[in-house]
This record gives sequence, structure tokens and C-alpha cells, in this order.
Amino acid sequence: MQLGKKIGVLASGQGSNLQAIIDAEKRGELAGKVSVVVSDNPDAYVLKRAKDNGIKDVVLDSKKFISREEYDQALLKILNEENLDLVVLAGFMRILSRIIVSAYPGRIMNIHPSLLPSFPGKEGIKKALEHGVKITGCTVHFVDEKLDNGPIIIQEAIPILQEDTEETLRERVQAAEHRNYPRAIDLFCRDLLKIEGRRCFIYGPEE
Ligand code: GRF
Repeated sequence: MQLGKKIGVLASGQGSNLQAIIDAEKRGELAGKVSVVVSDNPDAYVLKRAKDNGIKDVVLDSKKFISREEYDQALLKILNEENLDLVVLAGFMRILSRIIVSAYPGRIMNIHPSLLPSFPGKEGIKKALEHGVKITGCTVHFVDEKLDNGPIIIQEAIPILQEDTEETLRERVQAAEHRNYPRAIDLFCRDLLKIEGRRCFIYGPEE
């Protein structure tokens, strides 16, 4: 397995997606390597996951910066120093400004817990349940300057059951995230994704 691409993960919370990516890497299913984890939250559990797996972890505490631009300049410096091929947002609770997005065009991915463009922003699972849709899911997409908006790489649909609570639905949506995020990252690492306008095409044996 090639270990060509260098991946940086930005995360603010639990880091279950980071764990899924690391696990895929360990199973030899990821043609890349997570080389740094950056969090804006010094207490985030994701930092422990990074440490436990021997991955460099960096805290860039949002409270220590007065503006988004200043924060993103500092973040850009860290990302550039790592010489990353791909930046992966995994529950990063900040919107990236043009400073970062324009420095990594087509090289930043996000995962969102709904079938975009439905239910963007926070609480995608709760919003889907409350709206009464029968099908929701998860979306892996490239990041542009608008919230949860860039070209969609893969989606998985999850039916909403009558007996679902936010908790039971979250369990199934997150399980889908853990299947799809490593897969999308692997496709990127193997140069099998091509963006044309709003569409992202997948090339190679899988399609
Ligand atoms: C995920 O549900 C993801 O869709 C959203 O934030 C959550 C992060 O979870 N963007 P975790 O920190 O990876 O467990």
C-alpha cells in the first residue's frame, strides 16, 4: 500500500471520524497517512485519539484569536508547514475563510450528517428528524467558501424509522459516516476524483 498523500485532520470534538480514518489506514485501506490533527478546542477528545495513535496534535485555541482572519492565518501556517496534500474536516466547528479555502482548492473535504443540500449547518440529524423526512444520510463533499456547499463526492442514504430518536438516528448516520469518509479520502489519495463545476466524478475500478 502506498503511503503517498499527507493528510491533516481538523476537528473539534469526539473524533469518531478521525478514528475511522486511522482504522482504515491500519487495515491498509487508505492510500494516505494522517500526519497532523489540529483542534480549536483544547479539551477535545480527538486530541487524545491523535496522541494514542502517535499522530502529531496541535491545539489552535479559538479563544486566543480576535478575528477569523487572524485565526485562519495561523491555521494556514500550520497546514503549510506540514506540506499536506489533503485537509479533512471531521467535526471542525468553524467555517473556513477564503484564506484557507483558496490556498487548498479542491483539497479540503468535509463530512456532513445529512443528504446535502438538505439540512446544512449545525444539527443536521435533529433537523431531518424534526422536518419529518423519511430518508436522510451523510454527505462527503469538497469545501468551498459557502457553508456545506462544495461538490459532493459520495452520499449514503439512511431511512428514518418511525421509532427513531435523535440518538438512534445519530448512531446509524455516524456508522455511515465511518464507512464513507475513509472511502472518499482513499479515492482522493488514489487520484480517482475529478471536479467539474459542481460535479465530482469518480474514476477507476469502483465505478
Ligand atoms: C459528525 O457527525 C460530522 O458529520 C459532523 O460532526 C460530527 C463529528 O463527529 N460534521 P466526530 O467528532 O467525528 O465523532
